[in-house]
Amino acid sequence: MKNNKRIIAVAAAFALAVPLALTGCSGDRGSGGGDTGSGFPADATVGVALPWLGTQNWAEANDMFAEQLAEAGFKPLVQQADNKVPQQQSQIEAMIEQGASVIVVGPVDGSQLGTQLEKAKEKGILIIGYDRLLENTTGVDAVVQYGSIRTGELQGQSLLEGLKELKGDGPYNIELFAGGPADPNAPNFFTGAMSVLQPKIDDGTLVVVSGQTTFEQAATLDWDNSKAQARMDTLLSGFYSDKQIDGVLSPNDGIARAILTACAQAGQDQPVVDGLDAENESIVSIWEGHQYSTTAKPTDKLVAKTIELIQAAQKGEALPEPTSSTNNGKIDVPLYELDPVIVTKANIKEVFADDPSRLELLK
Ligand code: BGC
Repeated sequence: MKNNKRIIAVAAAFALAVPLALTGCSGDRGSGGGDTGSGFPADATVGVALPWLGTQNWAEANDMFAEQLAEAGFKPLVQQADNKVPQQQSQIEAMIEQGASVIVVGPVDGSQLGTQLEKAKEKGILIIGYDRLLENTTGVDAVVQYGSIRTGELQGQSLLEGLKELKGDGPYNIELFAGGPADPNAPNFFTGAMSVLQPKIDDGTLVVVSGQTTFEQAATLDWDNSKAQARMDTLLSGFYSDKQIDGVLSPNDGIARAILTACAQAGQDQPVVDGLDAENESIVSIWEGHQYSTTAKPTDKLVAKTIELIQAAQKGEALPEPTSSTNNGKIDVPLYELDPVIVTKANIKEVFADDPSRLELLK
């Protein structure tokens, strides 16, 4: 908590650094202190560096940041890096060159941006990690995300509930999938899920027929759906020629649909598969009784939280109190965590009661 306060004070003090940098003085953000300064211009440039647009959440973030930052009076500079680290590094460099006062980053690889982020920090730029942690760097003031361990716990829990609901009494044959290893969320999702599943593997309720239970074995390079589908094909032909698969842990919706496709093509009965993101295609799939569940982490709320931090900083106010903090390998980073929600056919209309675009899919 002590560290938290210090970081918040430091984050608030960045507000001093921009005007000082503009007048040629050096802003010392390391000294902290109570003076929150006068923030930065209300029409400042805000860079947003997204990892890719390959899943619906990032495509939504891309559009929402562009629209809502402009509505708030800022000059948005929103870019995506096609999952390529060097591309994201040069995009962040360019944002610094273009005088951004804030850079929001959803990293392709959480640990490969240290040089750029530390350079940005030296210039007094506010740096906010969006959805994913920025690791092993001092160049981060805050991270806004849905609890990543919590997300995994919900995924594991809904897989178990689905098995009980749809596959009778155990033991159940299952397989495990995880996300892209460069994404700091992926191991956390897996850790959260395994905290629920491992005791059930240990007591024999769940049987991972392939024996592939480590994150490294389960990971899907670059969150690539086709790679997940290819791995599922291989697992089915190698281990399930004489058995049914009952369930599969999936880190997100795209991979869940790829797993379901592979199982259908192999002539398997539909297994219980969880997901993440409440993507439109998966909402339809759940509604039609294919994918069992997803975990909703609404993009609009995460973007709104990010803009709330930016606006506080712009006015020279201290950032709001974070929900917790996490060590990123170098410093304790203030975390602003929102709560994800499990969605199944049973509660889908309730969860999306205030989301007309998703409700529209349930007809
Ligand atoms: C996000 C997920 C997304 C995945 C792949 C993760 O970091 O939290 O919402 O599905 O990246 O893009």
